[in-house]
Amino acid sequence: MQEMGTTLSSFIIDEQRKLGNKASGEFTGLLNDITIACKGIANLVNKGDLAGVLGVTESENSMGDVQKKMDLIANDLFIDALQNNGHCAGIASEELDEVLSLPEGKPRGHYLVTFDPLDGSSNMDINMDVGAIFSILKAPEDKENPTAEDFSRPGTEQIAAGYCLYGPSSMMVLTTGSGVNGFTLCTSIGEFILTHPNMKIPEETSEYAINASNQRFWEEPIRQYVADCVEGEEGPLGKRYNMRWVAAMVGEIHRILCRGGVFLYPIDDRNREAGGKLRLLYEGNPMAMIVEQAGGAASTGYERILEVAPNGDPHQRVPVIMGSKNEVEKIVAYHNK
Ligand code: F6P
Repeated sequence: MQEMGTTLSSFIIDEQRKLGNKASGEFTGLLNDITIACKGIANLVNKGDLAGVLGVTESENSMGDVQKKMDLIANDLFIDALQNNGHCAGIASEELDEVLSLPEGKPRGHYLVTFDPLDGSSNMDINMDVGAIFSILKAPEDKENPTAEDFSRPGTEQIAAGYCLYGPSSMMVLTTGSGVNGFTLCTSIGEFILTHPNMKIPEETSEYAINASNQRFWEEPIRQYVADCVEGEEGPLGKRYNMRWVAAMVGEIHRILCRGGVFLYPIDDRNREAGGKLRLLYEGNPMAMIVEQAGGAASTGYERILEVAPNGDPHQRVPVIMGSKNEVEKIVAYHNK
């Protein structure tokens, strides 16, 4: 008999079944909504210029980034998938200044979803990796319309996190708090199929990813670590390092899940006041949960990302150092010197 493999939906239903009668099916429905958004985005990203989705708009998001056409389309696809099915109670997105309440009269679910609908979107126009990142929290029980405060919770409270990488193939990588699993989109049947069960990040690595053009703005611990990597076998780290920069966090973290490595976007002189470059709620926290669940580590250099105290701003920023456990610990040690 020809077999199709385990689809993402059947995998999630199975996971929920293990919870016995505690699972209502709502969480499965929510992940299904997210999957539908990601399939819609994958379809357009894959068509590229044929679908007329390249290029920029005239608007900027709250961070002052010029919004690409596809940023807005991906954002709309996420909102459309999430706000109509009664699985979600509130939405926060990189592309929205404020958290979004669901329209009057729409059924409310028990979950909050934060997302970056198109991470690394400057890669869109050059036909390189882009992705979506999402994080799921429990919604407060007593509120029709959750506020920014309700989204401002430490990463340890996430109940699920994932990303969808739109690369040569599209892949959904997901954790619900018991390991990390990867699913590849089979475009013939339109389903994500389990291809990378129980993903684990090797503890050791000699590959790092950092935007080295920012070197002059870095703090001393990062400057010293990278200088030591560049010295290779002759330096204090005693081995030859390789460097990569995809310029889309989803691509970097996916590479690290597949073969190890560390990804750094540290605080620097330009972004110090803002607290870093990457966003805590929909970049740092979900990726930190995935990386830790795959056996890696995620730190600001001074503390575990998942324990960073949120400040009430859905667009709060955070310094990021994550990937292979032993290498992250080495970099943290540079900060403790
Ligand atoms: O905004 C997030 C992001 O696009 C990440 O996905 C990526 O790692 C980083 O910014 C790229 O930054 P830079 O512009 O410094 O290469």
